[in-house]
Parts: sequence; C-alpha cells; structure tokens
Amino acid sequence: MGGALDYHLATAHVRGRLSARGVDWVNRPPEHKLYPGLPGLTLPRPQGLPDLSLARALHGPAGALEPDVRTLSNLLFLAWGVTATQSGHSGEHQLRSAASAGALYPTEIYVALESWPGLEDGLYHYRSSGHCLARLRQGRVLGDRGFGARFFLSSIFLRSAWKYGERAFRYCLLDAGHVAENLKLAAAAMGLNLDLETEFNDQQVNAFLGLDPGIEGCLAVLGSAKDLARPLPAAGPEAVAGHETGRTSDPGHGMEVILAAYRSGCGPGPGPDQDLAWPGPEDAPRTGLPETKGPDAPLGETVVKRRSRREFSDRPLDLSELAGLARVLDQGPNPQLRAGFALGRVQGLDAGFYLLDPEAKGLSLHRPGLILSSMAQVCLDQSWLSRAALHVLYLIDLARLDAAGPRAYRRAMIQMGRLGQRTYLAATALGLGCCGVGSIYDREAQRLLRLPESVYLPYINAVGPVA
Ligand SMILES: Cc1cc2nc3c(=O)[nH]c(=O)nc-3n(C[C@H](O)[C@H](O)[C@H](O)COP(=O)(O)O)c2cc1C
Repeated sequence: MGGALDYHLATAHVRGRLSARGVDWVNRPPEHKLYPGLPGLTLPRPQGLPDLSLARALHGPAGALEPDVRTLSNLLFLAWGVTATQSGHSGEHQLRSAASAGALYPTEIYVALESWPGLEDGLYHYRSSGHCLARLRQGRVLGDRGFGARFFLSSIFLRSAWKYGERAFRYCLLDAGHVAENLKLAAAAMGLNLDLETEFNDQQVNAFLGLDPGIEGCLAVLGSAKDLARPLPAAGPEAVAGHETGRTSDPGHGMEVILAAYRSGCGPGPGPDQDLAWPGPEDAPRTGLPETKGPDAPLGETVVKRRSRREFSDRPLDLSELAGLARVLDQGPNPQLRAGFALGRVQGLDAGFYLLDPEAKGLSLHRPGLILSSMAQVCLDQSWLSRAALHVLYLIDLARLDAAGPRAYRRAMIQMGRLGQRTYLAATALGLGCCGVGSIYDREAQRLLRLPESVYLPYINAVGPVA
C-alpha cells in the first residue's frame, strides 16, 4: 500500500483511543481568506436562480449559457455561498450552500475567466462572506483564444485540522467533493458544462493560484473537457498579489501527516480506470427499484433550502422515495466507489445492509437484520442516527485504489463527497431530512457490515422524514 492509503488506515478511529485534546478556540484559523491589498469586487445579489430540476441537471447542461456577471454570481452562490446564519460558540456563524464537516469550510474557489462579459480577464478568488471576488492576476491567464472559464477548488487543510487533527485530510477531500457537485450542477442548470479533473500538475496549478504550500493545495479543477486538456501557461502575465491565509502549520494539529498524505497523492497519474464493483454473495436476493426520473424540485431553491437535519420522525419511507434517492447515485461506467443502504424503516423492504447496483436500479441484500442502532454506535455513538429511515453508505476498496495509482484515493474521496452532496440535495428535493457523518469507528463499521478486508466506509448520509 502507498502513502494515501497508509494515511487512511493510520487515521482510523478506534474506540477508547480517541484523542481527548480539547478544541483550541483561541488559535482558531481565520474562516475566510483575505487579500488585503486588493479591492473586492462585490457580486450582484443572487437572483433568478435556475429552476431546472436536480434530476435534469444531473444529465448535463440544459439551454444556452448567458455568460454575464449575474450568471457568475448565481453560480458561485449556489456552489459555495452563504445560505444561512446561526448563533454559535463564537458568535454569529455563516452556513454555506454545501455541507462541511464541523462547518469548518476549508474549501476555497478560484476562477480564471477570459472573455466573460462584464468582467475583466484574469484569475479571481471568491469569498463567500461578502459574496465578492478579488482579482489575483490580470489578462488572458488561460492563454485561450476565445471564451474560457476554469474553476479551481483548493483546501486550506489547517481550517479542518485545527479541530480534527490528522483525520482532517479525509474531510477536506469529502468537503471539496460537496462543493464540486454544487458547482457542476449549478453550471449545468445554467447551460455550462463543467468536467471535473483531479489529474493535473499540482505544483504548476498551486503556483498559478499563488497558494502557500504549507497550508493549502488545489484538489480539483473544473472546466470544459477541451479546456482541461490544455495545460496552463507556464508563467502568468503578472504575479499573484500577496495574501493572508492565517497562521502556518502549528505543531500538534496533524499538519505534517496531512501534508504528507496530500503530497503522496500528487504523484503521476492517471492510473488505469478500473471497475471497482465487487460482487456480493452469488445468491444474494436482488430487489429492483421502481422506475423514476429522480427528484424534480428546482435546483436553485433546493440548494438554498438544504441543511443538515437530524430530528428524524417515525414515518417510514416508501419505495418511490428510496428510488428517488438511489437515482442520483448512478455513477456511470467505472465507478470508483460503491454505494449501499443500511435500511431501517422502508415500506416493503426488510431491514439490513444492501448494496446498490452501480447503475442504481436495484439492491442486493448483503447482511439482513436490524442495523441502524448498531450503525449509530459505530458512528461514534451518535444516537440520533438510529432514528433515520436509512443510511446511505459509501464504500471504497483501498487495495483496488492502491492499484489504480497515487491519485486514486483523492479522486475517490472527492467523488464520495460529490455523491454525498447529491444525496443531501435529493433528500431536500423529496422533502426529507439528511445529514452527512464522517465520524466512524472504521474497523467496527467494517465488521458490522461484513466487508472484505480492504473495503472501508469513510462516509455516510443519514436520511429520513423529519419532524
Ligand atoms: C464530510 C462531512 C462529515 C460530517 N460529519 C458529521 C458528523 O459526524 N456528525 C454530524 O452531526 N454532522 C456531520 N456533518 C454535517 C456538518 O456538521 C454540517 O454540514 C455543518 O454543520 C454545516 O451545516 P449545514 O449542512 O446545515 O449547512 C458532516 C458533514 C460533512 C460534509
């Protein structure tokens, strides 16, 4: 096994061995990245959000893109904007359009634009708080001849490591996936096709964005397939302005381990795409799911309404709701991970752990019996989890990822975050509650679900009707 996979095993939660270190509130890293020397360009208030359905947006772009400032404003707002405020430990706290482990928001968005009407060519940083841009580079930074838009998602690892220590890299990858899916879906709903790329020259991209390599790294780039195939110009027309990202690696927050895991995933790629589906028992009974187009509530409204909900009611789910949730988990060919369900209260289906077909049309029973209370225990005894109607489970096979090359772990974890965000949105569109959970006793989950030795459960979404 290699770096990132060793990392996953080394950061497993083990019952009785959780770190007792308290949260260091005084040294909390800044929540927002600021560019003090640069004037902010405040985007117009988001307005006229797309009413294309979530199900339709999943199929790719609809209609023609109108590239103007309002479209960019809506796009960035839906991807990563502030959609609610909450009073918390340290005063008023802003919540965003995508879920984030511990609401720590390590993800940053940069966008390089060329010939985007109403905006000068250049590289911009988006700040959710204030819904504004700062221009870091000027000119035709992509070296394209005509229209160009490329989005870069980075993570300031310390924002999450400050609370979660070494394990935080897992959450940074999942978080980036959540944001990426919001961005991709919003773009599709506005007529812009964004492909997601995790194979790129990390050093070059990080330098282009002007990132401090001790705390931040780019994890994903989104653009049209044609644009992504072209490398960035070697040198930008102008240096990136100085910026402030807060304190650098404080000892004790696991930053060394995180940076080593990140760098081990910067190796050459891509590895061969592999079919990561693993067979269930030969005779596993399979249940087909009812045909459905998937959730049809408007995407814009759904993203704004999405919140983590934990107050589940007793109402069972029906099969059409389950099919609606499953629909958004279709990953197409060569899935990098496998999804399943721990079913508690779903009409017409017995409780148990089911694997979902890769094309999300049917389930096979893998381990029968009541399971949600045990799942709640495995998830660091978060007892509210036992009251959900079901848990969506995301499984990776570390041995197969290892065989697929050094970047495969990063890619699979980002993909997992993308599916997590889709599940959040599907649940919201269906009028259900949802909450992601990454706090899991890793080996206990493996035993409970009777998974093969190299298969792990890094993340789940609890879903069900809410009170
Ligand atoms: C990767 C990840 C892991 C999470 N783990 C947990 C968890 O273990 N327990 C929990 O109650 N919430 C968990 N959450 C939910 C976050 O706490 C929630 O997204 C955050 O507080 C922001 O609130 P919002 O989702 O309503 O915007 C997780 C979210 C993500 C994306």
